[in-house]
Amino acid sequence: MNSGTPLLAIHGLCKAYAGPVLDDVAFELRAGEVHALVGENGAGKSTLAKIAAGLVLPDAGTMMLRGKPYMPRNIRGAERQGVRMVMQELNLIGNLTVAESILLANLPHRWGWIDRRELRDRARCILERVGLTDIDPGCLVKSLGVGRQQLVEIAAVLAQPCDVLILDEPTAALTAPEIERLFAEIAKLKAAGTAILYISHRMEEIQRISNRISVLRDGRLIATRPAAELSLDEIVRLMVGRELGEAIHRDSATPGPVALRVEGLRRGDAVRDVSFKTRRGEILGFAGLMGSGRTETMRALFGADRADGGEIFLSDEKQPARIRSPRDAVRRGIALLTENRKEEGLLLPLPIRANITLLCLGQLSRAGGWIRATTELAAATRWGKLLSVRCHSYEQHVAELSGGNQQKVMIAKWLFRNCDVLIFDEPTRGIDVGAKFEIYRLLAELAAQGKAVIVVSSDLKELLALCDRIAVMSAGRIAATFRRGEWTQDQIMTAALSGYLDQ
Ligand SMILES: Nc1ncnc2c1ncn2[C@@H]1O[C@H](COP(=O)(O)OP(=O)(O)OP(=O)(O)O)[C@@H](O)[C@H]1O
Ligand SMILES: [Mg+2]
Repeated sequence: MNSGTPLLAIHGLCKAYAGPVLDDVAFELRAGEVHALVGENGAGKSTLAKIAAGLVLPDAGTMMLRGKPYMPRNIRGAERQGVRMVMQELNLIGNLTVAESILLANLPHRWGWIDRRELRDRARCILERVGLTDIDPGCLVKSLGVGRQQLVEIAAVLAQPCDVLILDEPTAALTAPEIERLFAEIAKLKAAGTAILYISHRMEEIQRISNRISVLRDGRLIATRPAAELSLDEIVRLMVGRELGEAIHRDSATPGPVALRVEGLRRGDAVRDVSFKTRRGEILGFAGLMGSGRTETMRALFGADRADGGEIFLSDEKQPARIRSPRDAVRRGIALLTENRKEEGLLLPLPIRANITLLCLGQLSRAGGWIRATTELAAATRWGKLLSVRCHSYEQHVAELSGGNQQKVMIAKWLFRNCDVLIFDEPTRGIDVGAKFEIYRLLAELAAQGKAVIVVSSDLKELLALCDRIAVMSAGRIAATFRRGEWTQDQIMTAALSGYLDQ
């Protein structure tokens, strides 16, 4: 096919839920191009992608695939015609094995029995494409961290041939080496003529791999340009329709007294003798590769997973705080915003209001135990507004929000609880550039109020912008800790790799 002819052409696409989400959108995807779709949280990117992949039906509009009318009624319909999508939210079934998830669509069988060996062998080959050589295809999906689940999901989609590949924030949970691997796969597919629709909030990635960029703002497609013609500032300006405020500026404020001290925390191979302390007024970052033990450390100290050993001390207490469960942790003023909002953080079928106030119904209930609905709504609205959660009402179910807005509800929920030690695991995953700065400012503000803030992030730039100190984890240990002004990106990367060199 001529590279100028669109493989997929979309015209006059409209979709409304409670309000309009897509408004008269025209969009073209060519064979052999990576076409990035950008826009703020809730702009309609995933909705557009889902329509093309057969998950959602539009209210109006037409689509043409290879010059023929195309309107898939479901995922199967789209897949049959060569259109596949990696979705923004993890969609694997936890109780299946990795191999089963990857080959779900066509499990190898012999006379009606699933051929287990064949299944494993094929899965192993496919996993290799995304660099997951160390995963046993027989292990359960739910035993993997979010980043790895995301890679399994990508592997599952790459396992099938397709002409149009839609990737909705595929790298949100990945760190640098996995991203490189994914980009290498994308380059191969592109060279083979696959048309790729790439949705991401990570601007550097977009500038690096895309040929063209389209910008959605409030459901309208406002520009499609060659990537080479758009500077970063221009993309952002088109996305948000205004100038972004100043980036946060952290000067080396004198931190307050110790808020949390962790001594010799251990859990299996993932967390090996981790000790650190964090002070009030400080933002402490945790950097490291995927699987380096950052999330596991936070979960163990929060009581979400049982630690094998180690003590946790709060403020200047001499006695260790006995934290056996998240409930104990919250009671002692520790909050953890988990990396997997769908599994652990949010109750999707409940309204935004209830999700935000969930952790402190006690505060809001009166003697009889009835929640004062108006107080609850007022509190939820206050925090929701602060984070600019985009919704038409706080009674709307969280399941209906865009990915980034779900993340904001999670943050609102923890802010509402007013804990002293706030741990954020990947706080800006899936959050658009504008809102990201709002969250940075908010974290800085929390620190200024005297809270101890811990941020785990795969995005090193984010940590460099935000933190007073950065602890770098490698193979389950803290390999190094750097102060603002004393670090370089190279030193941090070297520390992140150090634990794996002598193994
Ligand atoms: N099933 C649904 N019911 C009601 N509203 C919905 C539903 N799905 C999406 N919406 C609304 O449509 C709007 C666009 O959502 P969409 O998920 O397409 O945004 P997005 O651009 O992908 O955002 P993000 O960057 O946060 O992923 C949002 O305001 C969202 O609340
Ligand atoms: Mg989305």
